[in-house]
Amino acid sequence: MAEPLGIGLVGCGTVGAGVAQILLNHPDRLAARAGRRLELRRIAVRDAARPRPVTLPAGLVGTDPRAVLTDPTVDVVVELVGGTTVARTVVLDALAAGKHVVTANKALLAEAGAEVFEAARAAGRAVCFEAAVAGGVPIIRALGESLAANQVTAIQGILNGTSNFILTSMAEGGMTYPAALAEAQRLGYAEADPTLDVDGSDAAHKLAVLAQIAFGVAARPDQIERHGIDTLDAQDIRFASELGYTIKLLAEAWTGASRDGGREVALHVAPVLLRHTNLLAQVRGAFNAISVHGDVVGETLYQGPGAGMMPTASSVVADLIDLAVGRAQATFAAARLWSREGKGFVVEPVERVRSRFYLRLTVADRPGVLADITRILADEGISISSVVQHEAGEAAKEPVPLVILTHTAETGRFRTALRKMAALPTVAAPPVSYSMGD
Ligand code: HSE
Repeated sequence: MAEPLGIGLVGCGTVGAGVAQILLNHPDRLAARAGRRLELRRIAVRDAARPRPVTLPAGLVGTDPRAVLTDPTVDVVVELVGGTTVARTVVLDALAAGKHVVTANKALLAEAGAEVFEAARAAGRAVCFEAAVAGGVPIIRALGESLAANQVTAIQGILNGTSNFILTSMAEGGMTYPAALAEAQRLGYAEADPTLDVDGSDAAHKLAVLAQIAFGVAARPDQIERHGIDTLDAQDIRFASELGYTIKLLAEAWTGASRDGGREVALHVAPVLLRHTNLLAQVRGAFNAISVHGDVVGETLYQGPGAGMMPTASSVVADLIDLAVGRAQATFAAARLWSREGKGFVVEPVERVRSRFYLRLTVADRPGVLADITRILADEGISISSVVQHEAGEAAKEPVPLVILTHTAETGRFRTALRKMAALPTVAAPPVSYSMGD
């Protein structure tokens, strides 16, 4: 059997403890898959006294990441610090020290992918990141390897387990938003700062990573329009359900022809209405799912646990096995990710994307109000597919909710209509709208 692969862990929180557990509990299984042993040789943690669900071997644990980076018996550094400051230094220093890197850090890849991958190429080392998107779901390999014969034409993903857990708990269990968020944190799904989960940033980071693989674009954060579930009103979940739809936080990439005859991709994270029968609508709890359309294969769907200790650790250890076998090094060199050799796509705003829309207006219950609104939609060429206004009684003085579903329209024109409606004196609150999938 070949020499063992020496592994150093930097960060041993939830996911790190899971990785250590797999390495320590299943050495023979891993050796059989990799053709060599995977040995945990050094671990750096922030707080050595913190209780962990795994007993780490005495003598391996310290608090200085440099002890991992400079250990000559460590071949691969697993970065599980999170964030983009210390983690960036750890990754760049590890590469400079001649180590391969495995990371679950989508924020780092989204923000500094070009720098990290260039440093890896300069050092002749590989960076593996299956765990960075959708936890235990092997979407990085699916996109980068298994679908390599395709040009991907669209991606729709539930990429944030915390948001999906909260939406499921609110829709099915009648839980309040704060209670559902607290439960997601207790179960270890949420980021250290859960704002990143619920405001769409975490899903946007993951979409940026997928877009790099699928379209060769390095999307800047401001090129991914994002709306989270933190501003979602429970009444929209109820109205959607009444109309036959489930609201999911989706990360979406749409491709099309650009005006100059090239190819463009629009990237978007937002709550979207999906029919109850849509498979993505049926993905519950902290699960993730990604639908990928390829021009050769058609639609493919990947689903599984997208967050939490063991699912994410499962992907980290798969990367370690790939490095031990030598597959990861070959794939990394061939893929040339973040290399500025794109696939001919440019990132465009979502204005030209066509969709159906859900619109909730808070309106005065007076003659002519609906006529004004439908006129504005008609002026923008937008056709109405359904209107719901619950009876408010004869004496209603308060504004009432009016829900409209549209037929397919261009996002830009729909937004123009929204601005005009918001200016109507009879519209009492900012219009609320979401796009609709099938
Ligand atoms: N906090 C993330 C989520 C998991 O809730 O999906 C790690 O990416």
